[in-house]
Amino acid sequence: MKRLDQKIAVVTGSSRGIGAAIARRLAADGATVAVVSRQAPGDAVVADIERAGGRAAAFTGDVSDAASVAALVRGIVDRFGRIDVLVNNAGIAEYRSVGELDRAHFDTQFAVNTWSVVAMTQAALPHFPKTGGHVVNVSTSLVHSPGTGLSVYTASKAAVDALTRAFAEELGPRGIRVNAVAPHITRTDMTADLPPDVLADEQARTPLGRLAEPEDVADAVAFLASNDARWVTGRSLLTDGGRM
Ligand SMILES: NC(=O)c1ccc[n+]([C@@H]2O[C@H](COP(=O)([O-])OP(=O)(O)OC[C@H]3O[C@@H](n4cnc5c(N)ncnc54)[C@H](OP(=O)(O)O)[C@@H]3O)[C@@H](O)[C@H]2O)c1
Repeated sequence: MKRLDQKIAVVTGSSRGIGAAIARRLAADGATVAVVSRQAPGDAVVADIERAGGRAAAFTGDVSDAASVAALVRGIVDRFGRIDVLVNNAGIAEYRSVGELDRAHFDTQFAVNTWSVVAMTQAALPHFPKTGGHVVNVSTSLVHSPGTGLSVYTASKAAVDALTRAFAEELGPRGIRVNAVAPHITRTDMTADLPPDVLADEQARTPLGRLAEPEDVADAVAFLASNDARWVTGRSLLTDGGRM
């Protein structure tokens, strides 16, 4: 018996990067996975999962848009019947100096990174079993030590940490646990343009001596999404190799 056998897991932003690793890991733990992305469908991730003997299907939708979220969750529930695990991983990080900040940038960062957590959790809520469910949000280590050029991104993720604690409080009585992971620099498309000297410096400052791979974050998510974390809720787990 695998620890997520019989479970239905939804992973937003799982066509690539950290989300793809989370989808593959939850499927390896026995879950049937809804692989959600905005543009290109996550067919390659579904194929990986099926090749490994797991079950998955790809869905597209914009998690920052209420109508799209409603249609997305309806499609997932029509296909799989319910939701046991929701991983709110989809996110974008746009660099802007303080002088370049404007309302459009602020609104986009908060819509994709923060509102999506509200909209997806709310839409999934009626479809969690009566016995409860698990939500795992993806925050960032920058919440603990913000870097230059990512102020609004960091604020949007600090709000995700606040939502994690507040939702855990409110949904705990229904048996729904809500936690987060907070990765530091992880090798994905999001960090592919960082200069080599920045990456070398980050690696040198990381006690465990390397940068994170998506699988390092995915394994922590799999723990929080499982019954092994049954007494953990309202927490944000730093997955940073000790960097913070
Ligand atoms: N990489 C890091 O170093 C790092 C560190 C800390 C936190 N994080 C957080 O970890 C999460 C995953 O990051 P990543 O590096 O794996 O990113 P990534 O490689 O850029 O992948 C982002 C994923 O999110 C999806 N997505 C973006 N906007 C969406 C929307 N509006 N609706 C639905 N899906 C959307 C993308 O789908 P499309 O391909 O269709 O656009 C893609 O599947 C993000 O929340 C990020 O902020 C990353």
